[in-house]
Amino acid sequence: MFIRQETEKDFKEIYSLVKTAFETARVSNGKEQDFVNDLRAGKNYIPELALVAEQDNKIIGHIMLTKFYVNTDKDNKFEALLLAPICVMLEYRNEKIGAGLINKSFELAKNMGYTAVFLVGDPNYYYRFGFQQSTNYNIRNIDNVDAKYVMGCELVKDGLKDITGYFSFY
Ligand SMILES: CC(C)(COP(=O)(O)OP(=O)(O)OC[C@H]1O[C@@H](n2cnc3c(N)ncnc32)[C@H](O)[C@@H]1OP(=O)(O)O)[C@@H](O)C(=O)NCCC(=O)NCCS
Repeated sequence: MFIRQETEKDFKEIYSLVKTAFETARVSNGKEQDFVNDLRAGKNYIPELALVAEQDNKIIGHIMLTKFYVNTDKDNKFEALLLAPICVMLEYRNEKIGAGLINKSFELAKNMGYTAVFLVGDPNYYYRFGFQQSTNYNIRNIDNVDAKYVMGCELVKDGLKDITGYFSFY
């Protein structure tokens, strides 16, 4: 298994992977595959941080980190990243492919100068990567999402120190 940046020729295969993988997700709106296309077409897309896990010429996992902004209490925008979505093909789960995608994307993001990542997801999975509830950093979300699922992670020590404010997913 190796991890590389997605390319245009992968897009159809990724669409179908995301669609199928989220059919067995604990939480899904059934539209994650379209969300991927929307993110890719949007101004927050970062090609270097859209990765696939490949094995035997088959894409078995995918992750996207896109630009995401905190509206700070100092009235400016702090540029961070959103981790969404991530998936691994059902047959390949629990082999640390998800962890590999997260760790690789974080390493690349750090090298690009990013200092923090946010997401909405299951705390039981994301705690292990250093995520905590974003309100612990005094950053809140203003949508109607239960705060325990809204999480942030510093890519570097004190990456969110002195950042207070809010963001919105929608
Ligand atoms: C979440 C997902 C990407 C993890 O991929 P993976 O390659 O299986 O992950 P890893 O092998 O790195 O980690 C597996 C561990 O995470 C746990 N885990 C996976 N999903 C979890 C969840 N939603 N909540 C809690 N724990 C979870 C597994 O039980 C396993 O635990 P263990 O290490 O104690 O045995 C994969 O399960 C998936 O594609 N799920 C469907 C899509 C989805 O839900 N995406 C996340 C949206 S927030």
